[in-house]
Amino acid sequence: MPNRLPNKVAVISGGASGIGAATARLFAAEGACVIVADVQEPLDPQLASLIDASSDRIRFIKCDVSIEDDVAAAIEAAVTAFGKLDTVVACAGVAGMGAAGDITAEHWDRTFAINARGVFLFTKYAIPHMITAGGGSIINISSAFGIVAGPHFAAYAASKGAVRNFSKSTALDYIGQGIRSNSIHPGYIDTPIVQNIINNAADTDTAQAMFNALQPGGRGGVPEDIAWGCVYLASDESRFVTGAELVIDGGLLAR
Ligand SMILES: NC(=O)c1ccc[n+]([C@@H]2O[C@H](COP(=O)([O-])OP(=O)(O)OC[C@H]3O[C@@H](n4cnc5c(N)ncnc54)[C@H](O)[C@@H]3O)[C@@H](O)[C@H]2O)c1
Repeated sequence: MPNRLPNKVAVISGGASGIGAATARLFAAEGACVIVADVQEPLDPQLASLIDASSDRIRFIKCDVSIEDDVAAAIEAAVTAFGKLDTVVACAGVAGMGAAGDITAEHWDRTFAINARGVFLFTKYAIPHMITAGGGSIINISSAFGIVAGPHFAAYAASKGAVRNFSKSTALDYIGQGIRSNSIHPGYIDTPIVQNIINNAADTDTAQAMFNALQPGGRGGVPEDIAWGCVYLASDESRFVTGAELVIDGGLLAR
Protein backbone atom coordinates (compact mmCIF):
# COMPACT_ATOMS: atom_id res chain seq x y z
CA MET A 1 0.00 0.00 0.00
CA PRO A 2 1.86 3.16 -1.15
CA ASN A 3 1.08 5.41 1.80
CA ARG A 4 4.06 5.27 4.11
CA LEU A 5 4.44 9.07 4.41
CA PRO A 6 0.89 10.41 4.75
CA ASN A 7 0.74 14.16 5.48
CA LYS A 8 4.53 14.39 5.84
CA VAL A 9 6.27 17.51 4.55
CA ALA A 10 9.84 17.16 3.34
CA VAL A 11 12.61 19.30 1.87
CA ILE A 12 15.16 17.38 -0.21
CA SER A 13 18.43 19.07 -1.15
CA GLY A 14 20.19 17.81 -4.24
CA GLY A 15 16.77 16.66 -5.39
CA ALA A 16 17.26 17.52 -9.06
CA SER A 17 19.27 14.41 -9.88
CA GLY A 18 20.29 10.92 -8.84
CA ILE A 19 19.52 9.79 -5.29
CA GLY A 20 17.75 13.03 -4.33
CA ALA A 21 15.46 12.89 -7.38
CA ALA A 22 14.56 9.25 -6.72
CA THR A 23 13.86 10.17 -3.09
CA ALA A 24 11.58 13.04 -4.14
CA ARG A 25 9.65 10.72 -6.47
CA LEU A 26 9.22 8.00 -3.84
CA PHE A 27 8.27 10.50 -1.12
CA ALA A 28 5.56 11.94 -3.38
CA ALA A 29 4.32 8.44 -4.27
CA GLU A 30 4.14 7.59 -0.55
CA GLY A 31 1.93 10.59 0.21
CA ALA A 32 4.41 13.32 1.22
CA CYS A 33 4.50 16.96 0.11
CA VAL A 34 7.98 17.79 -1.14
CA ILE A 35 10.18 20.81 -1.84
CA VAL A 36 13.03 19.86 -4.17
CA ALA A 37 15.98 22.21 -3.51
CA ASP A 38 18.93 22.25 -5.88
CA VAL A 39 21.34 24.56 -7.74
CA GLN A 40 20.19 23.04 -11.02
CA GLU A 41 16.71 22.54 -12.47
CA PRO A 42 15.48 18.93 -12.21
CA LEU A 43 17.59 16.75 -14.51
CA ASP A 44 15.49 13.68 -13.86
CA PRO A 45 12.73 13.71 -16.53
CA GLN A 46 10.29 11.65 -14.41
CA LEU A 47 10.68 14.14 -11.56
CA ALA A 48 10.33 17.15 -13.87
CA SER A 49 7.02 15.87 -15.22
CA LEU A 50 5.82 15.02 -11.71
CA ILE A 51 6.50 18.61 -10.62
CA ASP A 52 4.60 19.90 -13.68
CA ALA A 53 1.65 17.61 -13.00
CA SER A 54 1.43 17.90 -9.18
CA SER A 55 2.69 21.36 -8.26
CA ASP A 56 0.28 21.42 -5.32
CA ARG A 57 2.30 18.62 -3.67
CA ILE A 58 5.83 18.78 -5.13
CA ARG A 59 7.73 21.94 -5.99
CA PHE A 60 11.20 22.98 -7.05
CA ILE A 61 13.19 25.83 -5.50
CA LYS A 62 16.62 26.95 -6.64
CA CYS A 63 19.01 26.66 -3.70
CA ASP A 64 22.76 26.58 -3.25
CA VAL A 65 23.18 24.67 0.02
CA SER A 66 26.43 26.45 0.83
CA ILE A 67 24.56 29.80 0.97
CA GLU A 68 22.80 30.34 4.28
CA ASP A 69 19.99 32.55 2.90
CA ASP A 70 19.20 29.98 0.19
CA VAL A 71 18.81 27.19 2.74
CA ALA A 72 16.66 29.36 5.01
CA ALA A 73 14.45 30.18 1.99
CA ALA A 74 14.09 26.52 0.99
CA ILE A 75 12.97 25.55 4.49
CA GLU A 76 10.57 28.53 4.67
CA ALA A 77 9.15 27.56 1.28
CA ALA A 78 8.01 24.23 2.73
CA VAL A 79 6.38 25.80 5.77
CA THR A 80 4.71 28.50 3.68
CA ALA A 81 3.43 26.05 1.07
CA PHE A 82 2.48 23.13 3.27
CA GLY A 83 2.14 24.54 6.80
CA LYS A 84 4.86 22.57 8.60
CA LEU A 85 8.09 20.60 8.22
CA ASP A 86 8.58 16.95 9.18
CA THR A 87 11.68 15.84 7.28
CA VAL A 88 14.80 17.13 5.60
CA VAL A 89 16.94 14.94 3.38
CA ALA A 90 20.34 16.61 2.94
CA CYS A 91 21.44 14.92 -0.24
CA ALA A 92 23.25 17.67 -2.20
CA GLY A 93 26.86 16.74 -2.67
CA VAL A 94 29.94 17.01 -4.84
CA ALA A 95 32.79 14.55 -5.27
CA GLY A 96 36.25 15.01 -6.67
CA MET A 97 39.27 12.78 -6.55
CA GLY A 98 42.74 13.44 -5.15
CA ALA A 99 45.06 12.53 -2.30
CA ALA A 100 45.94 15.23 0.25
CA GLY A 101 49.15 16.22 -1.54
CA ASP A 102 47.42 16.60 -4.88
CA ILE A 103 44.28 18.62 -4.09
CA THR A 104 44.10 22.37 -3.63
CA ALA A 105 42.85 24.22 -0.58
CA GLU A 106 40.02 25.52 -2.83
CA HIS A 107 38.98 21.94 -3.65
CA TRP A 108 38.90 21.14 0.10
CA ASP A 109 36.90 24.29 0.95
CA ARG A 110 34.33 23.78 -1.83
CA THR A 111 33.85 20.13 -0.87
CA PHE A 112 33.26 21.09 2.75
CA ALA A 113 31.07 24.09 1.86
CA ILE A 114 28.60 21.82 0.07
CA ASN A 115 28.99 18.39 1.71
CA ALA A 116 29.43 19.48 5.34
CA ARG A 117 28.34 23.14 5.76
CA GLY A 118 25.30 22.51 3.53
CA VAL A 119 24.23 19.60 5.74
CA PHE A 120 24.72 21.69 8.88
CA LEU A 121 22.62 24.54 7.45
CA PHE A 122 19.73 22.23 6.58
CA THR A 123 19.68 20.91 10.13
CA LYS A 124 20.05 24.38 11.64
CA TYR A 125 17.08 25.85 9.76
CA ALA A 126 14.91 22.73 10.11
CA ILE A 127 15.25 22.44 13.89
CA PRO A 128 12.98 25.36 14.97
CA HIS A 129 10.13 24.13 12.73
CA MET A 130 10.54 20.56 13.93
CA ILE A 131 10.44 21.71 17.54
CA THR A 132 7.20 23.56 16.74
CA ALA A 133 5.81 20.42 15.09
CA GLY A 134 6.76 18.30 18.11
CA GLY A 135 9.39 16.28 16.25
CA GLY A 136 10.91 15.45 12.90
CA SER A 137 13.38 13.34 11.00
CA ILE A 138 16.71 14.64 9.68
CA ILE A 139 18.29 12.39 7.07
CA ASN A 140 21.85 13.21 6.00
CA ILE A 141 23.41 11.45 3.03
CA SER A 142 26.98 10.52 3.92
CA SER A 143 28.84 7.70 2.12
CA ALA A 144 30.54 4.37 2.74
CA PHE A 145 33.60 6.67 2.62
CA GLY A 146 32.19 8.43 5.68
CA ILE A 147 32.86 5.24 7.65
CA VAL A 148 36.06 3.89 6.09
CA ALA A 149 38.87 5.61 4.23
CA GLY A 150 38.28 6.73 0.67
CA PRO A 151 41.57 6.22 -1.14
CA HIS A 152 42.14 9.20 -3.52
CA PHE A 153 39.02 10.90 -2.12
CA ALA A 154 40.76 12.85 0.69
CA ALA A 155 38.43 15.86 0.92
CA TYR A 156 35.28 13.91 0.01
CA ALA A 157 35.85 11.19 2.62
CA ALA A 158 36.69 13.79 5.29
CA SER A 159 33.51 15.74 4.52
CA LYS A 160 31.40 12.57 4.66
CA GLY A 161 32.98 11.57 7.98
CA ALA A 162 31.96 15.00 9.29
CA VAL A 163 28.37 14.32 8.21
CA ARG A 164 28.36 11.02 10.08
CA ASN A 165 29.40 12.47 13.46
CA PHE A 166 27.41 15.68 13.03
CA SER A 167 24.28 13.57 12.53
CA LYS A 168 24.95 11.67 15.76
CA SER A 169 25.58 14.87 17.75
CA THR A 170 22.30 16.31 16.50
CA ALA A 171 20.52 13.08 17.47
CA LEU A 172 21.65 13.46 21.08
CA ASP A 173 21.11 17.24 21.24
CA TYR A 174 17.47 17.04 20.15
CA ILE A 175 16.24 13.65 21.34
CA GLY A 176 14.18 15.41 24.02
CA GLN A 177 12.26 17.33 21.34
CA GLY A 178 11.33 14.24 19.35
CA ILE A 179 13.74 15.05 16.53
CA ARG A 180 15.60 12.10 15.02
CA SER A 181 18.85 12.49 13.08
CA ASN A 182 20.47 9.72 11.07
CA SER A 183 23.03 9.32 8.30
CA ILE A 184 22.81 7.06 5.26
CA HIS A 185 25.96 5.52 3.81
CA PRO A 186 25.59 4.50 0.16
CA GLY A 187 28.05 2.35 -1.69
CA TYR A 188 28.66 3.03 -5.39
CA ILE A 189 25.39 4.15 -6.98
CA ASP A 190 25.18 4.80 -10.71
CA THR A 191 24.42 8.56 -10.86
CA PRO A 192 25.92 11.66 -12.52
CA ILE A 193 28.28 12.32 -9.57
CA VAL A 194 30.15 9.09 -10.43
CA GLN A 195 29.57 9.27 -14.18
CA ASN A 196 31.30 12.67 -14.24
CA ILE A 197 34.37 11.28 -12.45
CA ILE A 198 34.49 8.37 -14.89
CA ASN A 199 33.97 10.60 -17.94
CA ASN A 200 36.77 12.95 -16.83
CA ALA A 201 39.26 10.13 -16.20
CA ALA A 202 42.20 9.64 -18.57
CA ASP A 203 41.02 6.07 -19.18
CA THR A 204 37.25 5.78 -18.73
CA ASP A 205 37.20 1.96 -18.91
CA THR A 206 39.75 1.70 -16.11
CA ALA A 207 37.84 4.24 -14.04
CA GLN A 208 34.54 2.34 -14.53
CA ALA A 209 36.29 -0.92 -13.60
CA MET A 210 37.65 0.74 -10.43
CA PHE A 211 34.14 1.69 -9.29
CA ASN A 212 32.72 -1.75 -10.16
CA ALA A 213 35.57 -3.38 -8.22
CA LEU A 214 34.55 -1.49 -5.06
CA GLN A 215 31.35 -3.55 -5.02
CA PRO A 216 31.41 -7.25 -4.05
CA GLY A 217 28.66 -7.81 -6.65
CA GLY A 218 30.80 -6.15 -9.32
CA ARG A 219 28.36 -3.35 -10.14
CA GLY A 220 26.78 -0.26 -8.60
CA GLY A 221 23.31 0.20 -7.20
CA VAL A 222 20.52 2.46 -8.48
CA PRO A 223 19.23 5.65 -6.80
CA GLU A 224 16.05 3.94 -5.59
CA ASP A 225 18.18 1.59 -3.45
CA ILE A 226 19.04 4.61 -1.29
CA ALA A 227 15.70 6.38 -1.70
CA TRP A 228 13.84 3.49 0.00
CA GLY A 229 16.15 3.94 3.00
CA CYS A 230 15.11 7.60 3.11
CA VAL A 231 11.43 6.57 3.01
CA TYR A 232 12.03 4.31 6.00
CA LEU A 233 13.86 6.99 8.01
CA ALA A 234 11.23 9.63 7.18
CA SER A 235 8.36 7.33 8.16
CA ASP A 236 7.05 6.52 11.62
CA GLU A 237 8.31 2.95 11.06
CA SER A 238 11.72 4.24 12.23
CA ARG A 239 10.43 6.10 15.30
CA PHE A 240 13.05 4.44 17.57
CA VAL A 241 15.94 5.00 15.12
CA THR A 242 18.19 7.97 15.83
CA GLY A 243 21.95 8.54 15.81
CA ALA A 244 22.21 5.54 13.50
CA GLU A 245 24.22 4.84 10.37
CA LEU A 246 22.07 3.20 7.74
CA VAL A 247 24.55 1.43 5.44
CA ILE A 248 23.08 0.67 2.00
CA ASP A 249 26.13 -0.42 0.07
CA GLY A 250 25.65 -3.78 -1.67
CA GLY A 251 28.15 -5.31 0.76
CA LEU A 252 30.99 -2.82 0.14
CA LEU A 253 31.78 -2.46 3.84
CA ALA A 254 31.36 -6.17 4.60
CA ARG A 255 34.82 -7.13 3.42
N1 LIG B 1 26.50 7.99 -6.31
C1 LIG B 1 27.27 7.41 -5.39
O1 LIG B 1 27.98 6.43 -5.67
C2 LIG B 1 27.28 7.93 -4.00
C3 LIG B 1 27.90 7.17 -3.01
C4 LIG B 1 27.92 7.65 -1.70
C5 LIG B 1 27.32 8.85 -1.40
N2 LIG B 1 26.72 9.57 -2.38
C6 LIG B 1 26.14 10.86 -2.01
O2 LIG B 1 24.79 10.91 -2.42
C7 LIG B 1 24.42 12.28 -2.59
C8 LIG B 1 23.66 12.43 -3.90
O3 LIG B 1 24.55 12.20 -4.98
P1 LIG B 1 24.09 11.48 -6.32
O4 LIG B 1 24.83 10.22 -6.41
O5 LIG B 1 22.62 11.46 -6.41
O6 LIG B 1 24.73 12.48 -7.40
P2 LIG B 1 24.06 13.54 -8.38
O7 LIG B 1 25.19 14.29 -8.98
O8 LIG B 1 23.09 12.86 -9.27
O9 LIG B 1 23.23 14.50 -7.41
C9 LIG B 1 23.84 15.48 -6.62
C10 LIG B 1 22.95 16.71 -6.64
O10 LIG B 1 23.50 17.68 -5.74
C11 LIG B 1 23.32 18.93 -6.35
N3 LIG B 1 24.24 19.93 -5.81
C12 LIG B 1 25.58 20.01 -5.95
N4 LIG B 1 26.05 21.10 -5.36
C13 LIG B 1 24.98 21.75 -4.84
C14 LIG B 1 24.82 22.94 -4.11
N5 LIG B 1 25.86 23.73 -3.81
N6 LIG B 1 23.58 23.29 -3.71
C15 LIG B 1 22.50 22.51 -4.03
N7 LIG B 1 22.60 21.38 -4.73
C16 LIG B 1 23.82 21.00 -5.13
C17 LIG B 1 23.57 18.68 -7.83
O11 LIG B 1 23.06 19.75 -8.64
C18 LIG B 1 22.87 17.35 -8.03
O12 LIG B 1 21.53 17.53 -8.43
C19 LIG B 1 25.71 13.10 -2.52
O13 LIG B 1 25.80 13.70 -1.26
C20 LIG B 1 26.78 12.04 -2.69
O14 LIG B 1 28.00 12.39 -2.08
C21 LIG B 1 26.67 9.15 -3.67
